[in-house]
Amino acid sequence: MTARGVASFLILAAGVAATSWAADVAPTAKPAADQSMADSTLIARGAELAAIGNCASCHTHPEGKSFAGGRPIKTPFGTLYSTNITPDNETGIGKWSAEDFLRAMHDGVAPGRRNLYPAFPYDHFTRLTDNDVEAIYAFVMTREPVRLTAPPNQLAFPMNLRSALSVWKVLFLERGAYRPDPQQDAEWNRGAYLVEGLGHCGACHTPRNAMGAEEHTRDFDGGQSEGWDAPALNSSSPAPSAWTAEQLYAYLRQGRDENHGTAVGPMKPVVDNLSQVPESDVRAIARYVAWRMNRGQLVRVAATSSDSAQTVIGDGEAIFRGACASCHEAEASGGPIRSGRTVPLSLTTSVNAPDARNAIHIVLEGIWPDAGEKGAFMPPFEGAFTEQQLAALLGYVRSRYARGPAWSDLPKQVRAIMHTGQKQ
Ligand code: HEC
Ligand code: HEC
Ligand code: HEC
Repeated sequence: MTARGVASFLILAAGVAATSWAADVAPTAKPAADQSMADSTLIARGAELAAIGNCASCHTHPEGKSFAGGRPIKTPFGTLYSTNITPDNETGIGKWSAEDFLRAMHDGVAPGRRNLYPAFPYDHFTRLTDNDVEAIYAFVMTREPVRLTAPPNQLAFPMNLRSALSVWKVLFLERGAYRPDPQQDAEWNRGAYLVEGLGHCGACHTPRNAMGAEEHTRDFDGGQSEGWDAPALNSSSPAPSAWTAEQLYAYLRQGRDENHGTAVGPMKPVVDNLSQVPESDVRAIARYVAWRMNRGQLVRVAATSSDSAQTVIGDGEAIFRGACASCHEAEASGGPIRSGRTVPLSLTTSVNAPDARNAIHIVLEGIWPDAGEKGAFMPPFEGAFTEQQLAALLGYVRSRYARGPAWSDLPKQVRAIMHTGQKQ
């Protein structure tokens, strides 16, 4: 469907279906305040689950209080703001019952029949067991209440109409808890439950259609997030050396794997959260992702270097020697660099990916360890290069270190990222 076709379809269908899903939903009374809330093991389990679900990452403004919302989320349809999920009675979810919360997580409906936008990944959270949702509720409801209302969403018509979401749900929301695969063992099923449900990995790693829904025929085929490319996590993985479950575990738990590199951009908060949850859960996630990656034949693009790019590569090589080689030339010279070794560029996904965006972001924004912690550091080069220089530099890096063909749209992508402020 074209965008216009989609829009008129939505307008037509919205009128018909506006009430269908939400009809049975009415706000329910809040339970007496104290009861099961005091259950500290339930709350602790809820905290771990909330970390795997990245609830705080989306529901916290960079300068705001935890879970108080207001963080802008850019989508192709406009900007949405995460809402306040602290137990404040007026501006948060303080008056919500456990049932209200369960409906929001499983059906994307808030009290008052307010349909929620799927930027809140309830299309994944619908896979959660009622028990897990209850634990998350117990955790969220015991946070510090904060009085704050998110700014109004800035969405284009017809997406600004919440009624249109009923249609979206009819078409794309597959409700229902995760059903274990009896052919597989408990660890595999735990991994699948967390990846497909709470971890909502596909929200970034699966491509979306014109109506913003994940294309389930292409699960984990690579998607995007905040102007970054979220690489394929299936047999189309662009990683030059195949990921093992062990390597995925290191990457997801510590944020870095020696054979692949460091998690950056929108993947950084994901691995920060996974460093705080039970180790067995991260092992299960790694096992399941490795299984998805290795189910098919790994098709690797044979080395080809593009002649058309040769003219700019000369400049690129000189820039690389001046600005990058001190840290990235180990694979040529063999020597260790400073205290640690950087992953050879030839092994990194960003340099080998079919899309140049992540390499551009990394060079402009650098890589930072968290305050007070040790970790990979690369300085940001924003302002250091002109568009042409950055395109020449990355053209050279691609031709020298990657197995794939030259990035054909490199200059265009460099311009877009340098000038549209599409940055982290
Ligand atoms: C990718 C970002 C993202 C993540 C991750 C996320 N949320 Fe949200 N959430 C949102 C957005 C955006 C909204 C507002 C949707 C709207 O306005 O329709 C929202 C709305 C909600 C609401 C409805 C509140 C209201 O009154 O609008 C609840 C409850 C909620 N989220 C809970 C959670 C929990 C619990 C988690 C973790 C398990 C979570 N969210 C993870 C983005 C996110
Ligand atoms: C908010 C968006 C987002 C979510 C959610 C997300 N990822 Fe990512 N992920 C990315 C981006 C962007 C990259 C590329 C950045 C980089 O190379 O560090 C990435 C990179 C990765 C990589 C490295 C791939 C490679 O070949 O280099 C793996 C593995 C990965 N993610 C696994 C996961 C798993 C498992 C989950 C769910 C538990 C998940 N991701 C959830 C955005 C996301
Ligand atoms: C001060 C040292 C330093 C300098 C200078 C430096 N880098 Fe890096 N770079 C790093 C480190 C450390 C990493 C993270 C890799 C790892 O985890 O070992 C990295 C990662 C990268 C990656 C990402 C690989 C991935 O994980 O997907 C790219 C691309 C890259 N550098 C390109 C460049 C380019 C181009 C230049 C020159 C403009 C440059 N770097 C300059 C230290 C440096």
